Amino acid sequence: MTNQKLSLTPRQIVAELDKYIIGQKDAKRNVAIALRNRIRRMMVKTDIQKDIVPNNILMIGSTGVGKTEIARRLAKIAQAPFTKVEASKFTEVGYVGRDVESMVRDLVEQSVHLVREVKNEEVKEKAAAAVEETILDILIPPVKNAGFKQNNLAIAQEEDPRSDEELNERTRERFREKLQNGELDDRKIEINVKASSPVGIGMIGNGMMDDASMAGLQDMISGMMPKKMKKRKLTIAEARKVLLEEEISKLIDFDELKEEAIRLAENNGIIFIDEIDKIASKSGKNGGGPDVSREGVQRDLLPIVEGTAVTTKYGVINTDHVLFIAAGAFHVSKPSDLIPELQGRFPIRVELNALTEDDFSRILREPKNALTKQYQALFEAEDVSLEFTEDAIDELARLAFLINQEVENIGARRLHTVMSHLLNDFLFDVPDTIEPNSKIMITHEMVQERLSTLVKNRDLSQYIL
Ligand SMILES: Nc1ncnc2c1ncn2[C@@H]1O[C@H](COP(=O)(O)OP(=O)(O)O)[C@@H](O)[C@H]1O
Ligand SMILES: [Mg+2]
Repeated sequence: MTNQKLSLTPRQIVAELDKYIIGQKDAKRNVAIALRNRIRRMMVKTDIQKDIVPNNILMIGSTGVGKTEIARRLAKIAQAPFTKVEASKFTEVGYVGRDVESMVRDLVEQSVHLVREVKNEEVKEKAAAAVEETILDILIPPVKNAGFKQNNLAIAQEEDPRSDEELNERTRERFREKLQNGELDDRKIEINVKASSPVGIGMIGNGMMDDASMAGLQDMISGMMPKKMKKRKLTIAEARKVLLEEEISKLIDFDELKEEAIRLAENNGIIFIDEIDKIASKSGKNGGGPDVSREGVQRDLLPIVEGTAVTTKYGVINTDHVLFIAAGAFHVSKPSDLIPELQGRFPIRVELNALTEDDFSRILREPKNALTKQYQALFEAEDVSLEFTEDAIDELARLAFLINQEVENIGARRLHTVMSHLLNDFLFDVPDTIEPNSKIMITHEMVQERLSTLVKNRDLSQYIL
């Protein structure tokens, strides 16, 4: 992990978030503080370090206003392991459904993935060099018994004692060059590869065992199987990939990787719990039924948020310092409908604002990954240029806003449906009737023409937009 990124100041973190998310200043500031606080905690020298708990955040806002996006971007900025779960997916222990601990296992999976990428990068060059030698050995087998020849036979034959070796070496270098130029990529060679593990093991204990014991069992079984080698005929380009993967896994210390991944998840992990309002029971209503199980899920969630040890196939992870960000619309229930213990674990409450028409205009234009830019890139891939006039974008924003009001408010997600409806015909016509090097200009009139009848017809827009 590059330390430069990890040491971003709160202002810098907000500036990074601003590149992707419009508005929501309050939420950005709070996640920035939470992120910086973990770096601060790591720098605390005294025993109090252990007692500093994360500033878990509760984001309150309707759908499509940027809650998930903020959390996801935050994790990217921090290069932190991140996982997103929907609280409503969980059910109480003992019932059918996902157990709450699985979110922690997912987090560790993500962490392993991140660490593995870093480690791959570290050994990539070394591995590539080794693979090159392996392929060269196959193409030009090294001269055998060179020493023996040199002392006896060669002298007897009055030849240059090292000519064989030298010749071999020269050919090898010539081939090395060709190999590096990619000239030999299509040529086939035969390589020895590890036979893939027999299929079917994964089926055992389907749902009857937790992931950790499953993995243990799998390791045990594959450990008992003799490592079979298999010959495969591949092009050099393919063989290079296969061999590289094998070589990389040889060079990576897996135990070290596991440990690092656990530590990374413990100290930098972020778990995003969406739809937490769905597991809050409305106060005063004591009818039992679903409310009981909702509270049960909250009770199951509590130890994980408070800090507990969870066994994963990579080792035991402690969740004390994992950052939890929960989100919900809270239209029906209120944060105070959550059990007090859980409320207490989310001390920071941020409300996300409803997006305005003006926000929509900006969302269409400004973010690094703005929708207009995404579609431009898609058309660009076919050498067609796509342009929007300024008032066309404003009109799109206006209509999206209107539809949200009239049909259902789905926030900025509406921009996706409106945009795809606007551009669908063009997407279909490229490149058949709209050929490469053409230009498409989206104007105000065009937006109206294509969308306004839909907007006026409520029944129609309900289905189409
Ligand atoms: N404030 C915003 N700025 C930029 N894009 C946004 C904003 N709010 C939502 N979006 C876009 O709308 C979509 C849904 O946003 P998301 O964060 O998933 O919403 P939710 O609040 O329901 O979690 C995403 O494509 C996201 O990029
Ligand atoms: Mg969301």
